[in-house]
Amino acid sequence: MLDEAERLSVDELRTVQLERLKWTLRHAYDNVAHYRRAFDAAGVHPDDCRELADLARFPTTSKADLRDNYPFGMFAVPEGEVRRIHASSGTTGRPTVVGYTEHDLDVWATVMARSIRAAGGRPGDRLHNAYGYGLFTGGLGAHYGAERLGCTVIPVSGGMTPRQVQLITDFRPRIIMVTPSYMLTVIDEFEKQGLDPRKSSLEIGIFGAEPWTEQMRVEMEERAGIDAVDIYGLSEVMGPGVAQECVETKDGLHIWEDHFYPEVLDPETGAVLPDGEPGELVFTSLTKQAMPVIRYRTRDLTRLQPGTARPGMRRMEKITGRTDDMIILRGVNLFPTQIEEIILRTPGLAPHFQLVLTTRGRMDHLTVQVEARPDCPPDRRDPAGADVARTVKDTVGTSVEVVVVEPETLGRSAGKIQRLVDHRER
Ligand code: DLL
Repeated sequence: MLDEAERLSVDELRTVQLERLKWTLRHAYDNVAHYRRAFDAAGVHPDDCRELADLARFPTTSKADLRDNYPFGMFAVPEGEVRRIHASSGTTGRPTVVGYTEHDLDVWATVMARSIRAAGGRPGDRLHNAYGYGLFTGGLGAHYGAERLGCTVIPVSGGMTPRQVQLITDFRPRIIMVTPSYMLTVIDEFEKQGLDPRKSSLEIGIFGAEPWTEQMRVEMEERAGIDAVDIYGLSEVMGPGVAQECVETKDGLHIWEDHFYPEVLDPETGAVLPDGEPGELVFTSLTKQAMPVIRYRTRDLTRLQPGTARPGMRRMEKITGRTDDMIILRGVNLFPTQIEEIILRTPGLAPHFQLVLTTRGRMDHLTVQVEARPDCPPDRRDPAGADVARTVKDTVGTSVEVVVVEPETLGRSAGKIQRLVDHRER
């Protein structure tokens, strides 16, 4: 059974959104000093929002705004009403802190349950949750959503890979939730133990928290014998469960628009782009009490398309990258996902790779370190690397160095993987 919101027509949904947007703008303006200042400085007031398009007149919010108001300055409710806090570690500086009221946690569990169901999960399914538990939203977000749907949750968290394999083998879950990069490590571990991952009980993998490509979907579906679907979210907006790919179509992620209003902006000018145009994804929360966000700039790059499996809700295309992990190499823009696609199409190479940026002379230099597959004969390794370099040159238009290394020599991560290592001289 779908949620009532999943059955709304586009028109019905827009009506709900406008009413909730007005409430959110008012709630943020009345209760968060930052929003009052920002709206006043931009000369807009919550009463100026009469239709959804009026949202474009309101200022955007960035991660820097959250950091400047560290830790609790963005909260819109009295401290006693905040039931939970999460934080994203952030690679630099202070973490970004987010808070939830009891109602927010209820909404989160609802959208997360909706996501797992859209991925093919059903009440009664056993679900192995290998997203990290703790301040990261992945573990607890998936956990409460799975319980809400009526699944039996196995709260494993990330790490201790041999034990992940043992628990999957012994407890026989139907669903796994984990980052795609760590799923690969788990699949490798099955094979290392002489087990065929295709024969495990797993039927569905719900993968997110980092970008992954269609080629990676093929890799995981073939090697593990599962349906691999994409889940998206970010702590500032809620956590996992903001958008979910439906298993029957696997055509991008339906945004749960009754709670999260999406826009796509030109990352340079900040102008709102029409649906279908690629740009930076921006979200406004529609029901959040503890920490409403107005036009939060995610830095994630995608485009919006009409709904399919859930006709009322727009889809976001699989994320190609973030504005901040775009590499500019001698004037050419390059995303780690482009390298991932090329590597996975090259026989003999494993999907384990790392990008290292250095300075050579006065130029930036990119080295792609990629592992050979264990069954790749040694004399096939260098030619495979040369193939990747040639394809990057032909399709992306820039020169990179490709070094094929031994299997199992690059670092693994039990959560989000860091693809890019920046050793450039400043
Ligand atoms: O990663 C929430 C999450 C947990 C999503 C588990 C899905 C599964 P943050 O740590 O705040 O929250 O990081 C959010 O991760 O802005 C994207 O850049 C990236 N991201 C999340 N999901 C995807 C995805 C969680 N499906 C940031 N594809 C976001 C690509 C993703 N990137």
